[in-house]
Amino acid sequence: MTSGPHITISKPIVLVGLMGAGKSTIGRRLATTLDLQFIDSDNEIVEAAGCSIADIFETYGEAIFRDLEQRVLLRLLSGPPCVLATGGGAFIQPAIREAIQAKGISIWLKADLDILLERVSRRDTRPLLKTGDKGVILTRLMEERYPIYAQADITIDSNAGLHETVVDSIIGELSKLKATAQ
Ligand code: S3P
Repeated sequence: MTSGPHITISKPIVLVGLMGAGKSTIGRRLATTLDLQFIDSDNEIVEAAGCSIADIFETYGEAIFRDLEQRVLLRLLSGPPCVLATGGGAFIQPAIREAIQAKGISIWLKADLDILLERVSRRDTRPLLKTGDKGVILTRLMEERYPIYAQADITIDSNAGLHETVVDSIIGELSKLKATAQ
């Protein structure tokens, strides 16, 4: 068990949601607030593979990336409490989703299309967004994935400008979840 300034966390806190939802930025700040380690599963995959996500997609294909993603996440979910930012497709994989549901607390960071678009346009490194119009691709992914992200334990509106506000909402929801779980 690790004690943060507000609440005690006994399981990995797993941030899920689409590209551009703010999983890494919010996750890093949440981890600092809760005094937990922050881990970004995409970074772990890059380290394990020794090349970038874009290179994995290009050289080996998406299926190999998904396999690596699953292995890395199953390992991290068996570790100590931490704040874990996942890639947008992780929670969509049934085996990963089941492991998150069994071993972690899932938080869906939900944002509107215009916010996602603005955030993903800052970097051009995401292979899934390189194959066509970003707005069209994100809209399709929203249709496909939102019903699945909705299975997360907590849903948080991540449109709010201030990261601090989003982190405060997460802490509020985590406290409620713990209260009802007792
Ligand atoms: C993906 C999201 C990316 C990365 C990969 C695939 C997806 O992570 O894992 O490019 O399927 O949505 P971010 O959500 O951190 O951009």
